[in-house]
Amino acid sequence: MCGIVGYVGAQSALDVVTAGLKRLEYRGYDSAGVAVLADGGLAAAKKAGKLVNLEKELVDRPLPTGQTAIGHTRWATHGGPTDGNAHPHLDNAGRVAVVHNGIIENFALLRAELAERGHELNSETDTEVVAHLLAEEFSSCADLAEAMRLVCRRLEGAFTLVAVHADEPDVVVGARRNSPLVVGVGEGEAFLASDVAAFIEHTRSAIELGQDQVVQLRRDGVTVTGFDGRPAEVRSYHVDWDASAAEKGGYDYFMLKEIAEQPKAVADTLLGRIDPSGSLTLDEVRISPSELREIDKVVIVACGTAFHAGLIAKYAIEHWTRIPCEVELASEFRYRDPILDGRSLVIAISQSGETMDTLMALRHAREQGSKVLAICNTNGSTIPRESDAVLYTHAGPEVAVASTKAFLTQLVACYLVALYLGQVRGTKWGDEIQAVIKDLSRISEEVERVLETMEPVRALARTLASKNTVLFLGRHVGYPVALEGALKLKELAYMHAEGFAAGELKHGPIALIEEDVPVVVVVPSPRGRSVLHDKIVSNIQEIRARGARTIVIAEEGDETVVPYADHLIRIPVTPTLLQPLVATVPLQVFACELATARGNEVDQPRNLAKSVTVE
Ligand code: F6R
Repeated sequence: MCGIVGYVGAQSALDVVTAGLKRLEYRGYDSAGVAVLADGGLAAAKKAGKLVNLEKELVDRPLPTGQTAIGHTRWATHGGPTDGNAHPHLDNAGRVAVVHNGIIENFALLRAELAERGHELNSETDTEVVAHLLAEEFSSCADLAEAMRLVCRRLEGAFTLVAVHADEPDVVVGARRNSPLVVGVGEGEAFLASDVAAFIEHTRSAIELGQDQVVQLRRDGVTVTGFDGRPAEVRSYHVDWDASAAEKGGYDYFMLKEIAEQPKAVADTLLGRIDPSGSLTLDEVRISPSELREIDKVVIVACGTAFHAGLIAKYAIEHWTRIPCEVELASEFRYRDPILDGRSLVIAISQSGETMDTLMALRHAREQGSKVLAICNTNGSTIPRESDAVLYTHAGPEVAVASTKAFLTQLVACYLVALYLGQVRGTKWGDEIQAVIKDLSRISEEVERVLETMEPVRALARTLASKNTVLFLGRHVGYPVALEGALKLKELAYMHAEGFAAGELKHGPIALIEEDVPVVVVVPSPRGRSVLHDKIVSNIQEIRARGARTIVIAEEGDETVVPYADHLIRIPVTPTLLQPLVATVPLQVFACELATARGNEVDQPRNLAKSVTVE
């Protein structure tokens, strides 16, 4: 949510910053802007709309060349997406420029104070106050890092700030509270960005910034302090993927590439975690086996797609471990005074590791004395930093706003946690579990097989482009899959899409069924829990009798559904609890194709941003 880049070094800073913004555009695309220090002054350009508008502006009205610059791509919070509200924001003298991600909650008060002291504020944003406050502080201390520390101590809310001052031409300063900011360290150059993707083509050497820290970047080094000015300990790390991972690699959209990468993402997430004897090694889960044995409740907190992964995890955790498991939307969690204590294990699932709702939920859980385990895809991000332990998913960078490969790897991580809990506690550790572990270790091949059969799904999606509504039904783990299918369609195709537990149909939603309404039904395996299968087959008949066009996702060899399926999508035979790993894939492809057929932007759906760093 808002992408930030800063650079100081020997290259043309504007080129570095605009290339970095391109890689961060997934974070917000309402407007974009840059500021560069050159010839003893500061020059800036900003434009509403996507980054191409800014790039065009820079061609029409080039800025001077300099070696220090900052840039921003915006997801609007305060003030609409106009040229004036775009970042950077400058002080009245035009000497300071600042870009910001987050929300400054006390901005109205600060703005009123500044106005009283004669400052003229021109935008509707909360950010502009920071430029003016920095200018004031700099006029007395002549040190931008110190000015930033003084200003940050007055700000309330969540913010990442990056600023430059024309009187310190070789310095970029950043500050971080609650929203992400990473430092890239190169040879004679340094970078600041919301995400390593912005500088990965220049360096893979990164430094995590902690909470309430200020960083000063110069060509020859990086200094980090707390807001109080005390030197801070920093953690450096090597980014284990390269620039090609953050590129489209021949696909039209990142989403298509990320869907195709799922078999590898799943395999990578399993790698080294299941040993040949079939037992699990999760060394990263630094919560001791004795503590795990004491746990009497698991609570999963997450948002959006990650929440759906959590809903599926509940089935696995309760079935394999017999520990009660609750799943809660992170945004609701802390406001209802949940019952937690030292025997509750809270699992926070997040691709970005920066989702504010999830972060606040985990902080609340830790305040109650609960242990928090993060399942996360982003090394060094805030959620794993603030958790007791982390199990990383190895999906690689997910750039498309709609989550696909991250979801599948979240599921894998959830299964691993559930199985590990079972292993540690010795519950139900029998043949079923051994068989599931075997199936899990082969599942990436099944995902690959699903991907090979997607052409009919794409063709079907194209025929539905003019529909207004698509409904999704499922039972058991198929229910969260239905919710996920509906979410993908909403966010990408901008269609009315709803997922229901198929058993709930007759309690209300069946009234929505009318002639030719497409209804996607996720059918559980006929093996094992065949009672569920029989029930959903009845549900398909009920909706078909009322005119629905049925799109049935069913296991290979399940012939019972054939007479009632207007369209049949086959998925491989898998144990019921693992079925979401194969059943979700057609729904991702379906949504992506429908969005394309409707002329929508697949990677950057309207109004959305990846990584939601505000509550
Ligand atoms: C949907 C989607 C969102 C995210 C949600 C949580 O396709 O991407 O619903 O799943 O915003 O994000 P993370 O996982 O980064 O916490």
